[in-house]
This record gives sequence, C-alpha cells and structure tokens, in this order.
Amino acid sequence: MSSGAAPALKVNNVSKTYGGLRALEAVSLTAFPGEVVGLVGDNGAGKSTLMRIVAGAQPPTSGEIEVDGQARVFANPIDAVEAGISTVYQDLALAMHRDVVANFFLGRELVSPGWLGRRLGWLDRPAMTARTRDELARLQTRIPNVEVMCRELSGGQRQALAIARAAAWCRRVLLLDEPTSALGVKQQHEVLELIRRIRDRGVAVVLVSHQMQDVVSVCDRVTVLRLGNVAARLGKDEITVENLVAYITGARVADRGSALQEDS
Ligand SMILES: Nc1ncnc2c1ncn2[C@@H]1O[C@H](COP(=O)(O)OP(=O)(O)OP(=O)(O)O)[C@@H](O)[C@H]1O
Ligand SMILES: [Mg+2]
Repeated sequence: MSSGAAPALKVNNVSKTYGGLRALEAVSLTAFPGEVVGLVGDNGAGKSTLMRIVAGAQPPTSGEIEVDGQARVFANPIDAVEAGISTVYQDLALAMHRDVVANFFLGRELVSPGWLGRRLGWLDRPAMTARTRDELARLQTRIPNVEVMCRELSGGQRQALAIARAAAWCRRVLLLDEPTSALGVKQQHEVLELIRRIRDRGVAVVLVSHQMQDVVSVCDRVTVLRLGNVAARLGKDEITVENLVAYITGARVADRGSALQEDS
C-alpha cells in the first residue's frame, strides 16, 4: 500500500447511464501500486461497466479517471493501454480466427530485425512464438500448440491466454473481470499466484470476481457494488466470505459514512 504515494488508479464519481438505466451512480475507487482491490457485487451491479470505462472501451456519462495522479480521458482502449492499463474483459476480447501467438501479440507485433522488419514490416514469428510459449508456461497453461486458431481452444484455455496476455503487458494497472470462472482448480491457483507476483511488481490490480474464496485470499481491500452504487468498502480484516455475501445481497448495510468514504 501507499505511504503518501499517488494512487495508480483513481476513479472519481463515475456515473454511467444506458438510455434510462443507471448502471453506475457516482462510483469512486482507488488502487495503489502494489495492492489488489476486489470489486464485487451481484449480477448487473455495474462491475463490468466500470471496468470497461477504466479500460477506455466506453466513455463515462460523468466523472473522471486519474492514472498516477494525472487526469485522463480515454477515447479508446489504446489510450488506456498507453497509460499503462491492461485488461482481461469478461468476454476475453480474443480474435477467434487468429492463432494463439497472434492473439498474444495483438496490436504489439514484433517486427523482424534488419531491413525486412523496418522496411516491409515482416513479423518476427519465431521470437513471438517463443515468448508466447514462455508466458503460457508460467501460468502452467495447457495449450499444447500455440499455432492453433483461438476458436479451437477450450473456454479455460482461452481465459488463460487472455490473462497471460494482459499480465505480460501491464505496467501500472491490471483489470481482471472474472478471470478464473472457466479455469480448472490448478489453473485458478496459478492465476492467484500470478496476481500476487504482478502486485509485487508494484502494479495496482483490480479483481472482479464472484469467487468469494479468491477475493478473501488475494485482496487487500474490497469495494462492494449494489445496483450501481458503492454499498460498502472493506479493509483487509473485514474481508470474510460472510461479510462479502452479506453486503452483496444487502442483508447487511454499511453506514452511509463508511460506504461513501474515499479510500486513502
Ligand atoms: N451496453 C449496454 N447497454 C445497455 N445496458 C447495459 C449495457 N451494458 C450493461 N448494461 C446494463 O448495466 C447494468 C450493469 O451491467 P454490468 O455488465 O456492468 O454488470 P456486472 O456487475 O458486470 O454483472 P455480472 O456479474 O453479471 O457480470 C446491467 O443492468 C446491464 O443490463
Ligand atoms: Mg460483469
């Protein structure tokens, strides 16, 4: 956690309406370098909407986003990537008709050394293939052939690929929207370990999850969303499965002051 440092990510009073539907209402969230912040809530609470806004995939209706203390307006996801934000979307955002290596390097392809690369933009497939294999191996992912089309992968393999890709490129902030929902037990465990390693590199991680046990085991703080509003903010000692479930369902209601209080 910080000792007076600026948050890597600061979301200030972000609201989002879709037609007449208020998906988010003045939601604020901070994530400091080297911590994992959980974002939980029932289906439709607004978690993915907030992740898409921070990732530059959708504009907020109102509110601001700061990265490293600097206000940012993202016109598209590339702007957010350039600000140091990597994202694993709930729908994974993979190109199904391209192979594993191409997906790993989507938008960041390596060109060949020498004039072939400089002049003709030839891609350095051997280097890209080797790097893809290395990063997938770190997650103990079972993707035997990185030259198969993404559409031929299982759900869990696709999820592992999306996570490995985001993890490899993230610099300041990593947004994970339900990263372990399709994974086997061993891969889930690997993803939690990977999250800890990325956190230890000084990245701020925001983890959206319905897996309460994962949230308890890896998160330093948690924000609970309910119907687009912040329902509670929990510190490390308060993160228990029982507490999470109670605030998510509305069985327990935080006093207004503590739910609305900004993190610091
Ligand atoms: N593109 C859209 N157009 C209209 N309504 C939308 C759109 N995206 C999300 N919504 C609505 O906004 C609300 C919040 O949706 P969101 O996907 O953010 O929820 P969530 O917390 O991620 O839920 P889940 O746990 O099911 O993934 C929902 O009521 C949803 O129907
Ligand atoms: Mg969602």
